[in-house]
Amino acid sequence: MTEEETQAAKRAAQLRRKIEEHDRRYYQEAAPIISDREYDRLYQELLDLETQFPQFVSTDSPTQRVGGKPLEAFAQIGHRVPMLSLDNTYSEKEVASFYARITRLLPNERIPVVIEPKVDGVAVSLLYEKGRLRHAATRGDGAVGDDITQNIRTIRSIPERLRSARPSVFEVRGEVFMDKRGFAKLNEERSKAGLPLFANPRNAAAGSLKQLDPAIVAKRPLGILFYGTGAVEDVDLEKHSELFPLLEKFGLPTSERWWLADSFEEILNAIRELDKIRGDFAYQTDGAVVKVDAFAQRERLGFTAKSPRWAIAYKYEAERVETRLIDILVQVGRTGVLTPVAVLEPVTVSGSRVSRATLHNEDEIKRKDIRIGDTVVIEKAGEVIPAVIEVVKSKRLRNAKPFDFFKHVHGKCPVCGSPVRRDPQFVAWRCENIQCPAQTTRRVEFFAARSALDIESIGGILADKLVERGLIREPIDLFELKTEQLATLNLGTEEAPRVFGQKNATKAIRAIERAKTLPLSRWLFALAIPDVGKTTATQLARFHETIEDIAGSQLLRDVLTYHERSDQNRQQIANRLIEAGFAEKSKSKSEKGAGIVTEVGPVVAKSVLEFFESEAGAKLLRRMKQLQISPKIEKISAKKAAKLPLADKAFVLTGTLPSMTREEATAKIEALGGHVSGSVSRKTDYVLAGAEPGSKLAKAKHFGIRILTEAEFRKMLAR
Ligand code: IVH
Repeated sequence: MTEEETQAAKRAAQLRRKIEEHDRRYYQEAAPIISDREYDRLYQELLDLETQFPQFVSTDSPTQRVGGKPLEAFAQIGHRVPMLSLDNTYSEKEVASFYARITRLLPNERIPVVIEPKVDGVAVSLLYEKGRLRHAATRGDGAVGDDITQNIRTIRSIPERLRSARPSVFEVRGEVFMDKRGFAKLNEERSKAGLPLFANPRNAAAGSLKQLDPAIVAKRPLGILFYGTGAVEDVDLEKHSELFPLLEKFGLPTSERWWLADSFEEILNAIRELDKIRGDFAYQTDGAVVKVDAFAQRERLGFTAKSPRWAIAYKYEAERVETRLIDILVQVGRTGVLTPVAVLEPVTVSGSRVSRATLHNEDEIKRKDIRIGDTVVIEKAGEVIPAVIEVVKSKRLRNAKPFDFFKHVHGKCPVCGSPVRRDPQFVAWRCENIQCPAQTTRRVEFFAARSALDIESIGGILADKLVERGLIREPIDLFELKTEQLATLNLGTEEAPRVFGQKNATKAIRAIERAKTLPLSRWLFALAIPDVGKTTATQLARFHETIEDIAGSQLLRDVLTYHERSDQNRQQIANRLIEAGFAEKSKSKSEKGAGIVTEVGPVVAKSVLEFFESEAGAKLLRRMKQLQISPKIEKISAKKAAKLPLADKAFVLTGTLPSMTREEATAKIEALGGHVSGSVSRKTDYVLAGAEPGSKLAKAKHFGIRILTEAEFRKMLAR
């Protein structure tokens, strides 16, 4: 090392220590001793040094809190001690039976319990080794979770090193949350930028932790509260109540209030007291957790299949508030369905400001006898959109106006003025004009959604304005937008203008350009062809090279003809499909001899072919060509794919997985070289089955295919 380097390394280490110290004073003790400006100066000096001497950047440097490189996918981390959940209870009676049960199991003993807030966030587990943060994981399926270390490091109240002690292993568990103020501010910013809003602080926190790019997470106002431990070595703890002071000593944020009780009455008092004060907490809480204090007693109580017998969660009733229903507004969805929405006098419910609530449909309004001008009770439970529960009839005014859907909209779509019709089979009224701007807006939103072309900037508000101002008439028009058009677009009103701005516009155009390079499967999904979901789109993309290939697909035509015909040509077509790998012989004998099972069925085949044959479909193809958009099959080269651990493995998903969406599971499989198909055949290698699996599971068993639970699947990924 040169002298200069030695000096730089020394100074960088010194700066890191200083910054960590100030972080602690600011975030954990709420007692800073330097001004923000002085802090920024130290930070900048460190940043400069690290830019000049990148060899001295350490992963635990405070500068790394703003995020390292974006990840391709989360790695998996096995939990040393399983991360379990709690049984929920909703009534005081159930809490009484909980206490009675543990008293019965441990007769003639005092059983002190701790009562603490149930934070409404996302459960995480952090591992400190020798006092240093080693990694952080989500709960996942309880056995294995996502490695979210980079994201966790962006939360400034989480210390990189434990204060005042260095136990060899300290696994600490808690809940990441977005505080109420931060949530409101974030949504306000998103609304200004025309981005989709988060439904509540928990969704916002969960959405943030799922980001692969830590730089985005660093900008989100996240906090954490710790409430338990996993694997622990070199720490003497006998009771849960000893954990709070210990966490504080280590510099780990913990609950500001907790209670000790050893009778049902005392528990109840604590629960009620918490309910009175929890509105003042910076973060959202949705209940109280009651936990046996002594670890020795916990051990003797043990666990049921999925949760401990020594703890229970009591959920407070979803908050209900009265307000006035000022009007009923009718919104038009992507498929033209008209949805009535209540316009309310704004009120705060469960921590967020509410001025709209869904009314579902006309029948629902009739059933509840909701009239304009009524005082109504609205409820907001967790993530659900607020709903109107009932009318306070005693407060009904004489001039309250009954609601007649057809009359209210004058028989016309409130957006485009075309006639509306009530589907005899359904409860919904529908706008019949597929060119309706409202439908276009929703289609644009779908096109730009994360699972489609992932154009983040194009949320509801921006899509609305683009269509309203006539800048786009269909989703594909997005590709002809110019930066200047977007930059000067007014998202507000004429009286209170709010332009989109140069910076946002540049970002949006970049995202639009990037969408051009996305693979065929994503494009196919984004086009919203009836009956083509994610899985079908991926399947079709596996058998075709380009979008034109799909439009004129012989395979799809063969599927159709095969299902329509009964002559001898049928066998020929079947053979052709089998040869192409698009079908295989079905084991079950159909009425017409040995049949085949095709990758996609005749309904999909018909829908896809019809879409591209329609005027709109043909026009779309022309436009894509003009715009030089030619999505291709996924870019993993055959050589690379063959080397991946799940190369050539065929998966089928069925049922609801405990902690992953189908999209997440599919992405994980594809990232490792495997593929997902919609139906089980003998070529299927694994069936990943969740709750309430369909007939696919039975079929898999019939073929003797390996069936995986989510836990097994995660273990497979971890390997
Ligand atoms: S204790 C073995 N304490 O709520 C059980 N959980 O409904 C460990 N939660 O899975 C959990 N606040 O994600 C515990 N003070 C608290 C909590 C809390 C929120 C979450 C946690 C848990 C879920 C149970």
